[in-house]
Amino acid sequence: MKDIHQELKEVVSSLKGHLVYQRDILLAEGAPISKSPESGVRSQEKKAQSSSLIPHPSSLIDSQLPTPNSQLPTPNSQLLLKLISDIGDCQRCKLGKTRTKLVFGVGNPDARIVFVGEGPGKDEDIQGEPFVGKAGQLLTDIISKGMKMRREEVYICNVVKCRPPENRNPEPDEVDACEGFLIKQLEVIKPEIVVALGTFAAQTLLKTDLPISELRGRFHDYKGIQVMPTFHPSYLLRNPEKKKETWEDIKMVLARSG
Ligand code: URA
Ligand code: URA
Repeated sequence: MKDIHQELKEVVSSLKGHLVYQRDILLAEGAPISKSPESGVRSQEKKAQSSSLIPHPSSLIDSQLPTPNSQLPTPNSQLLLKLISDIGDCQRCKLGKTRTKLVFGVGNPDARIVFVGEGPGKDEDIQGEPFVGKAGQLLTDIISKGMKMRREEVYICNVVKCRPPENRNPEPDEVDACEGFLIKQLEVIKPEIVVALGTFAAQTLLKTDLPISELRGRFHDYKGIQVMPTFHPSYLLRNPEKKKETWEDIKMVLARSG
């Protein structure tokens, strides 16, 4: 068993990612937080809050917890923080033994669009943030250059929160142990649309064996949320000619999320 200090360190490290993103959202005054009808109200609220200055990222490491002098967390951000603390130093499956950092998820707790990948890779395992390696750069380009949104406006997470060794596919017992946390994340965020990145995320969410080539290009239902499966960014890096199809999928997402 890890001691309490180690456990606290890991919780604080997960909290850091959230707080940094919250700060980014608050500092981006006037930028649309979402395209939903209430977005005007939301950005006004953010503007009002942004007058309480948020510390520089480096100092956030030592001053993690929201205090009356920092930003007021939104209800959803508090619910996600509670979920992180419930997950704790997770050893519910064997990936707990081999991971470096648990990769919970990152972005806007009130996002209208959530991207779900498979599981952390090497870079994500080291940094504790999803989609920060090469595939992550492509996903970030899709969001920023393609969708004209900021990465901080959407939410990004994975089916499993810990890296499978050698990037193998997560095994059924690992998915069983972890899927409840994805379900809770989606219950809190209540996005309009989930973009399922790649075969694994799409098949897991939609409980199907159909290949991604047959699933992509149309919306599916997941507990009342519209799911658009598309190719995984890692697959697009190996098969750049498929980017056209992913862009078609993303355009359908944009048309629906207006
Ligand atoms: N691939 C994934 O599926 N998720 C990540 O976070 C990174 C790469
Ligand atoms: N295989 C995958 O795992 N993902 C894709 O997007 C395509 C093929």
